[in-house]
Amino acid sequence: MGTGYYIRKPVGIVGIILGAGALATIIALSVVYSQEKAKNIVPPTDAGTTTSNPHVTTTTPAPSNKPWTTPAPSNKPWTTPAPSNKPWDKYRLPNSLVPDNYNVTLWPRLTADLTTGLYIFTGHSSVEFECAEETDLILIHSNKLNYTKLDNGKFARLVSVNSAVKAPSIKDSWLQNVTQYLVLQLDGKLVKGHRYHLYAEFTGELADDLGGFYRSEYIEDGVRKIIATTQMQPTDARKAFPCFDEPAMKAVFYITVIHDHGTTALSNGKEKESTNIIVDGHNLLKTVFEPTERMSTYLLAFIVSDFTYISNTTDRVLIRIFARKSAITAGQGDYALNKTGPILNFFEKYFNSSYPLPKSDQIAIPDFNAGAMENWGLITYRETALLYDEAFSSTSNKERITTIIAHELAHMWFGNLVTLRWWNDLWLNEGFASYVEYLGADEAEPDWNVKDLIVLNDVHRVFAVDALTSSHPLSSNEDDIQKPAQISELFDAISYSKGASVLRMLSHFLTEEVFKRGLTTYLAEFAFKNAVYTDLWTHLQMAVNATGILLHDPVENIMNTWVRQMGFPVVTIDTDTGVVSQNHFLLDPDSKVTTPSHNYEWIVPITWMKTGVKKELVWLREKSDTFDAMRATGSEWVLANLDVVGYYRVNYDRGNWDRLLSGLNTNHMLIPVINRAQLVDDAFNLARAKIIPTVLALNTTKYLKNEKEYMPWQSTLNNLDFFYLMFDRTEVYGPMQDYLRQQVTPLYDYYKNVTDNWIKIPDRHMDQYNQVTAISLACRTGLGECQTLAERWFKNWMDSGENQIHPNLRSTVYCNAIAAGGTKEWEFAWSVFQNASVASEAEKLRSALACTKQTWLLNRYLEYTLDPTKIRKQDATSTIVYVTNNVIGQSLAWDFVRARWSYIFNEYGGGSFSFANLINGVTKRFSTEFELQQLKQFKADNADVGFGSGTLAVDQSIERTMANIKWVAENKQNVLDWFEAEAISK
Ligand SMILES: *[C@@H]1O[C@H](CO)[C@@H](O)[C@H](O)[C@H]1NC(C)=O
Ligand SMILES: *[C@@H]1O[C@H](CO)[C@@H](O)[C@H](O)[C@H]1NC(C)=O
Ligand SMILES: [Zn+2]
Repeated sequence: MGTGYYIRKPVGIVGIILGAGALATIIALSVVYSQEKAKNIVPPTDAGTTTSNPHVTTTTPAPSNKPWTTPAPSNKPWTTPAPSNKPWDKYRLPNSLVPDNYNVTLWPRLTADLTTGLYIFTGHSSVEFECAEETDLILIHSNKLNYTKLDNGKFARLVSVNSAVKAPSIKDSWLQNVTQYLVLQLDGKLVKGHRYHLYAEFTGELADDLGGFYRSEYIEDGVRKIIATTQMQPTDARKAFPCFDEPAMKAVFYITVIHDHGTTALSNGKEKESTNIIVDGHNLLKTVFEPTERMSTYLLAFIVSDFTYISNTTDRVLIRIFARKSAITAGQGDYALNKTGPILNFFEKYFNSSYPLPKSDQIAIPDFNAGAMENWGLITYRETALLYDEAFSSTSNKERITTIIAHELAHMWFGNLVTLRWWNDLWLNEGFASYVEYLGADEAEPDWNVKDLIVLNDVHRVFAVDALTSSHPLSSNEDDIQKPAQISELFDAISYSKGASVLRMLSHFLTEEVFKRGLTTYLAEFAFKNAVYTDLWTHLQMAVNATGILLHDPVENIMNTWVRQMGFPVVTIDTDTGVVSQNHFLLDPDSKVTTPSHNYEWIVPITWMKTGVKKELVWLREKSDTFDAMRATGSEWVLANLDVVGYYRVNYDRGNWDRLLSGLNTNHMLIPVINRAQLVDDAFNLARAKIIPTVLALNTTKYLKNEKEYMPWQSTLNNLDFFYLMFDRTEVYGPMQDYLRQQVTPLYDYYKNVTDNWIKIPDRHMDQYNQVTAISLACRTGLGECQTLAERWFKNWMDSGENQIHPNLRSTVYCNAIAAGGTKEWEFAWSVFQNASVASEAEKLRSALACTKQTWLLNRYLEYTLDPTKIRKQDATSTIVYVTNNVIGQSLAWDFVRARWSYIFNEYGGGSFSFANLINGVTKRFSTEFELQQLKQFKADNADVGFGSGTLAVDQSIERTMANIKWVAENKQNVLDWFEAEAISK
């Protein structure tokens, strides 16, 4: 899905919750994705991974058969075929029928039916398909649609296109709800090679469930407005009209929408004509669209609204930005409009393939579950992902808009023009877009260095998930992914962020030129068709062969080690001997991996430097190898994985660690900034895995008193989040706060100085981020000056009614002021939230409202999350997760979710992708035996209700809690001693 976005830019949005709360960034194990990027968590690989069947441990290498020679095991119990062998009990369509084109007419009603109170749409559609294998059965997807019986007494009518062949008649027609089919049994066979038309009339509900054809509501000028919009991916086109709803079933779509005067209808194609039409005495408009290109059903979109737009034209492509009238009038679409053309051009050049459609519409929808959706020619966004207002939006809001636009535009080629054959290859689609979004954003905003941020936003974030035994390989078997819920589960951090990380590594070792060349021929060969991921390897190999770059192994062999087995290696470099070795990196060293068919060895490209001097890339192609050049003497140090282009962690012998640390302390500029961030992240995670002592990891933070750059600071905060989660209810908390306050004070003073006492905003993008980091950490650690500042700014706003807080600083300031304040501050923020006309402002308030220390306010806020008139459904789970970031809110949120699980599950289960975030969120502090028991009880109590897309998250939470319990037991005293010593020594 278009960037079913987890929050990628912690800074400035969340991540700023003070003292009490944890930063809402991604923490080593506590994977908190905000609902925005809310996809859910990894497909269940094996429910029993943590305890059962310890065939293979990480210390016992599997036999040396190369992993790619063995097909990935099918260890997913729930994929066993349904007991019945009737074709309509299978989730996948048979191969007998192939659609060619559809004519679809839809009429959504934007007012509720007076008698039933329902919002509905009606429609009729016909599909022309070819019979590829003789059959007397038609299965076509259909979900939650009611059909009108036609003159033949059946739900559909079948005619032959060729008048010489007579179509059999329909013997029986019914709906198969579980597998979501309209089933038509014929009294004779369809003839192979012949074409038929199937026609049906139907009614559906235009519900507020964020899936299929649905409705979104908003208030404008005191008037409640309704729009009809769609979200088809992955399997909800079938909720709008009967269709062969699989990505390989590409067809041409002729769309017609009937709608009220005063509204505009949009779809993938350009509007061809809009004419008056009278239906049942209603005077209406009928808008006919140009036929689409040959495309997949999940990329369709139809929208009816009274939105307005701005437009321009780039290279004959009409670019339009649609949104609520007041948002467009306020200029909130301007930024997106200015950036779309350049990014589109960039991708045309990058792919060497022109954008095939005459128009590119982008529209901001008030209720939208994911971040954005790449419908071909009509991209839908959350408002915060498209609309920018200088007076309200922070730098990180702006960056998010640029990167999401780039992500969606990249899908116009990668995903839309060439589509993966089935959802098991989703990772390639999403991973690719998640990688090149940085390239597109860099083109749009070349001064930002935005490409560096993939390391924090994707690589580090997914390392946390992929270091668990409950992770899963990027690539799934086609047969293992059948049901809609299984498909939805693929939209996770592994697909997006690991996909992006390994593709970035691939592009680097091939060189960008070769990578682009392979992409270009891949897109050319499969345009308007479907591919599987190995087709891309084939084309990249062709590019390698054509350009003659030297690779010891075929692209496919290298990539199989990264794609077909889960996890990643830690590469250990012994600078005394030059021996370099690799091991599967597991955050919990005692956990067991139960997929014995993999050997957990990778073909690892190692970029490196010695004491600041960059060296030639080396390949680690075995479990271990010796590179004499990597031996270091005297004060020399070796640093590997430059700029973290490789998807692996690095460990060194203790001597080299010490020399690196002393390098950091004496002249940290010798080490590239991304690697400074990496040394911290590697050290903390190696310590978590008991590979190095925790004290060594803590020592990497000592140099920070001299560090002014954003990435190392943010990396440190991300890692310390885990310490906050584990210790913010213990005696470690005080000394930890003292130490961190000491470390951050110079940074705080630096920015105070640079900004003329907080009047200006730093020029550089990264400095703007780091200013936020400085303030949020200073306030969080109780630096009095910072807290006073935040309270004063907020009070000025309350008193004067004029908000003079810079948008970059608002999240932090709001949160701190609300935490320090009481009911008055909370109510003030709540009323501003309710009336906010800019989504990114509302977003900042919504997270800050969770910062209060008042229990009753937090409980009431939790109740609000289940009242859609107060908190939109799309925001419900992320709001609950915000509450869990607050140390006081954690247990309240857990009680809340436990008590109402079945209600939440049923009410919000539909199109919602966010259960995994919710479960990970409410359990992230769990670190006691008691909490573990509660969690297990929760799992048992709700076994009958189920956890839907959060199923795996429950198991991951149990695994994580067990690891936390052990970690706290082993580390608490050390950590306490260290903080006490360091806090006093200053
Ligand atoms: C849809 O309409 C087009 C154009 O009017 C026509 O050529 C095509 O045959 C129709 N297809 C179906 C399935 O009715
Ligand atoms: C479809 O039919 C069911 C059962 O009669 C009914 O409850 C539902 O409201 C109908 N849906 C629409 C949109 O008319
Ligand atoms: Zn996407």
